[in-house]
Amino acid sequence: MSKVPKEPPAGEITPEALYLRRRELLKNAALFAGTASAIGGGLVWLTGGAARRAGGEAAPGGEAAPLASAPAELAAPPAGAGGRGAFVTDEARTPYEDVISYNNFYELGLSKSEPAANAGRLRLRPWTVACEGEIKKPAVIDLDTLLAWFPLEERVYRMRCVEAWSMVIPWLGFPLAALLKRLEPTSRARYVQFTTLLDPKQLPGQRSDVLDWPYVEGLRIDEAMHPLTMLAVGLYGKTLLGQNGAPIRLVVPWKYGFKGCKSIVNIKLTEQQPKTSWSQAAPDEYGFYANVNPAVDHPRWSQATERRIGELRRRPTLPFNGYAEEVAGLYSGMDLRESF
Ligand code: MTE
Repeated sequence: MSKVPKEPPAGEITPEALYLRRRELLKNAALFAGTASAIGGGLVWLTGGAARRAGGEAAPGGEAAPLASAPAELAAPPAGAGGRGAFVTDEARTPYEDVISYNNFYELGLSKSEPAANAGRLRLRPWTVACEGEIKKPAVIDLDTLLAWFPLEERVYRMRCVEAWSMVIPWLGFPLAALLKRLEPTSRARYVQFTTLLDPKQLPGQRSDVLDWPYVEGLRIDEAMHPLTMLAVGLYGKTLLGQNGAPIRLVVPWKYGFKGCKSIVNIKLTEQQPKTSWSQAAPDEYGFYANVNPAVDHPRWSQATERRIGELRRRPTLPFNGYAEEVAGLYSGMDLRESF
């Protein structure tokens, strides 16, 4: 039987060494000017688990911060769009308030509540996504052009964080494959790399060295082309908020949540496997593939079960987060313990 704990310790996703370094950061105090008083309260630099313990087991994500700006309604997707099979789960959706107040976005703060509190710093327009690398049609594409190109679909996906909590989120977006096809990958394109905005003024967490900024993620090209993989611009029918990765972020429902690169400014097709942020920071803990796998524990906690935000009892974690039928074939012949 596994001796690793069910819940990650206070450091959660952060590798132990980096977590300890946060104490030094604490001494340097007001990295986030707006939350200096909260630092005095001692909760800011603890990630979710510890923050919840310190404050009592409040409703997860219950420290809802005021919205930086009212989320606009996106144009409704056409009736029936995306409403098929694995694209929509009938499991209970995580309440909107929890989805927008319990976040991981280290560039906006290390606790679960800081990203919402700091999201107002992020300027969402104008916004461009530079598409480059192994494609026949490189271009810097304005976000509104992207939105005009692709009809929005609603996809209700499970999201499983590597920290062993999960949510069910109705995303609004379009398949990544639609964009990639338009860019016309060359025969050398084997991977797709995604990069978050680098701007410490807007993303003050980038003034710390918790990760090597900017945040970079990547997929193999067949994973990127899979119909489940999407670029999201909204959720619950509303425009995405900064804390959730506005104005555009990646969603790959069979992988741990950290693959879902937020606030993307660059998409690059490459021949070589990209160096991704978490696998660089802690290669023993986070791999490139990061497929949800209850059989492979994190070195510091079990991945066999998860806590669905809003529920008390833990539930078993499903291989590929319940999307095995759709995606297991992508990995046939691979050792998923080796390629974790
Ligand atoms: N993207 C960037 N740029 N920075 C981050 O810190 N955190 C990741 C992922 N994308 C992260 C990121 C992690 S660990 C998770 S679980 C999801 O975003 C959380 O998405 P959510 O806050 O919208 O639920």
